[in-house]
Amino acid sequence: LHVGLLFGGNSSEHDVSKRSAHNIYDAMDKSHYNVSLFLLTRDGFVLSDAASRRVFDGEDEATVAAEEQAKVDASNPLAPIWNLSQAKDIDVFFPIIHGNLGEDGTIQGLFRLLKKPYVGSGVLASATSFDKDRTKQVLTANGIRNTKYVVVTPANRATYDYAKIKQELGTDVFIKPANQGSSIGIHKASNEQEYVDGMADAFRYDYKVLVEETIAGPEEVEISILGNEQPKASKLGAIRVPKQDVFYDYNNKFVDASGVTFEVPVKLDEQLTQEITEMGLQTYAALGLTGMARIDYLVSKDGVPYVGEVNTLPGFTNISLYPQLWEASGLSYADLIDELITLGID
Ligand code: DAL
Ligand code: MG
Repeated sequence: LHVGLLFGGNSSEHDVSKRSAHNIYDAMDKSHYNVSLFLLTRDGFVLSDAASRRVFDGEDEATVAAEEQAKVDASNPLAPIWNLSQAKDIDVFFPIIHGNLGEDGTIQGLFRLLKKPYVGSGVLASATSFDKDRTKQVLTANGIRNTKYVVVTPANRATYDYAKIKQELGTDVFIKPANQGSSIGIHKASNEQEYVDGMADAFRYDYKVLVEETIAGPEEVEISILGNEQPKASKLGAIRVPKQDVFYDYNNKFVDASGVTFEVPVKLDEQLTQEITEMGLQTYAALGLTGMARIDYLVSKDGVPYVGEVNTLPGFTNISLYPQLWEASGLSYADLIDELITLGID
């Protein structure tokens, strides 16, 4: 089977995607799979297999990309995706591109135009799940618990000063760009200055920003879901960050994870475990997800779970919980990759 593994992308999670792709590539049984690599550069240009492999093996991305771009006719509107459109003998694409262009439905639309199967969710489910506001609308419409929030855009930004936020959501709030991954642009604010600074930064990433209530003494819990019509749920995992770090942010995800501890699987109260698992499967169905998703929760200190967010192309880095939760549930890394590819072709 010929698999096209796409990685990189133009989002702020470019480097995270490279790490994920390495792990997926290493876990693939090469006697089963012929793997072509396609690196999407930060400018949205798809590199050929040969060029992608050079970057994969450590060569400088910008240098290799410049050489590749010189080879195609830049006036052709398909020039950025030329290498992909030429990939006629690929049986299935595996896009492990986190964030925009990868996780937001864009690349899924391209696969549809190319009439090629692909791993993961479709256009609408990807786009909906990548937008935290749209996700919450679907959750709320389906009675799935999530935190209270307001959406701030340039149109209403002037009315949402900290006094109004405090009145609606309480003193401590989270500020999140609607479309982002890996906690980039997320801030906790507990006073006016933090709110003003946090909003300014969040608006660098998106025109739409969510301000959410905080949950008292939360525990961060994650679940992995795998499947199409009959998805299955993994055991649960918990993430504990050092006390001085307010939440599981980009730094303790991918820069310095030394103080972070994981409990995989985590032993929670049986009823709570069941509730979280059911909420995960309901969320998966409500959003119309296929292939895989990792769903992240906040559990209050009184044991009330809230769906936080949905990741349709979750991290596969060494510290990422999606594959680890499956291993803890009895599915090896290699078997997980096989299942994902089979579900993509299905
Ligand atoms: N967005 C990152 C890759 C994750 O959720 O794992
Ligand atoms: Mg995410």
